[in-house]
Amino acid sequence: MAKILVTGGCGYIGSHTLVDLIDNGFEVVSADNHYNSAPSVLDGIEEITQKRVKNYTINLCDLEATRQIFIDHPDIVGVIHFAALKAVGESVEKPLLYFQNNLGSLLNVLACMKEFEVKNLIFSSSCSAYGNADELPVTEETPFKEAESPYARTKQMGEYILQDFAKKYTDFNCISLRYFNPAGAHESAIIGESPTNNASNLVPVITGTAIGNRKSFTVFGTDYETRDGSCIRDYIHVMDLANAHTKAMEFVVNGKNEKNSEVFNLGIGAGVSVLEAINAFEKVNDLKLNYELGPRRAGDVIAIYANYTKAAKLLDWQPKRNIDDIMRTAWEWEKVRNVVV
Ligand code: WQD
Repeated sequence: MAKILVTGGCGYIGSHTLVDLIDNGFEVVSADNHYNSAPSVLDGIEEITQKRVKNYTINLCDLEATRQIFIDHPDIVGVIHFAALKAVGESVEKPLLYFQNNLGSLLNVLACMKEFEVKNLIFSSSCSAYGNADELPVTEETPFKEAESPYARTKQMGEYILQDFAKKYTDFNCISLRYFNPAGAHESAIIGESPTNNASNLVPVITGTAIGNRKSFTVFGTDYETRDGSCIRDYIHVMDLANAHTKAMEFVVNGKNEKNSEVFNLGIGAGVSVLEAINAFEKVNDLKLNYELGPRRAGDVIAIYANYTKAAKLLDWQPKRNIDDIMRTAWEWEKVRNVVV
């Protein structure tokens, strides 16, 4: 079985990807310092897969600690690099922290892959790299506009680093995956999104309000040039996103790629507005949400959704879930997460 190192493996997308990799016959090892994740996620992954994933609780900005993983596991054939700080608002307040952490960890992973001849890298990029795109849906050829935050900038810079690395080292494969809006939880409700107390993404804000952890929430802007005045996004179920990582790793490990540097959009091509997302939650779960309509949030793009034809064609990937599945599984997980034992 091919062994894959998953950095950030205890995080939201990382943990769901570990499950999908194991389900598809890969051997895995994780590196996660639990800055934004809990060790208990490994128990959940074991309950779902019956496999105990080894996690190195290290900071990937520590080169020697990162090298130790590759020394201990000479049979690693690929790396999926999730580990990064990802709070857009925080990145505006602490740009140096974001550049040091997100770029420093990527550069250490690349240095180790070069030293230990690990030839396949899947990089966690983001639709935020597009900025306020001129055309919709965005394709992989849509040019980057100005990054709206240092977080988005680290994703743009990360992709450029990989392009130059792949240009020099033509026997290494570098794949960047641009996520749209990940949401939802594993069907078992054993793992899911465990945001810190001040969750800012829409779906955990909705489920946090429904469970009573917050009294209400605000819809940030209903005066946009969209069909109902609220912002439009492309919400992708985290299990569909996880499977795209497995497909991308299979693509390069099995030598199916013609070019050694590729980028893929990972969205489902369905634009959903904030008000439509709220209605979906209320309908699927037969609940009324407490929210008010408020002013716009700085930094929000009006609308963005993906053309994912390239991933469908080259990776043989198809999303299987929609906004209703997101709202159903997110709510099931929120209820489990809040059970007081
Ligand atoms: C979605 C919509 C808000 C909260 C972020 C990152 C992006 C990616 C996905 C990593 C917006 C509205 C939200 C609330 C609201 N992450 N909203 N009330 O900003 O689209 O993208 O997560 O790759 O990089 O930027 O996600 O969930 O914060 O917002 O009205 O309380 O919901 O204004 O229109 P966003 P989000």
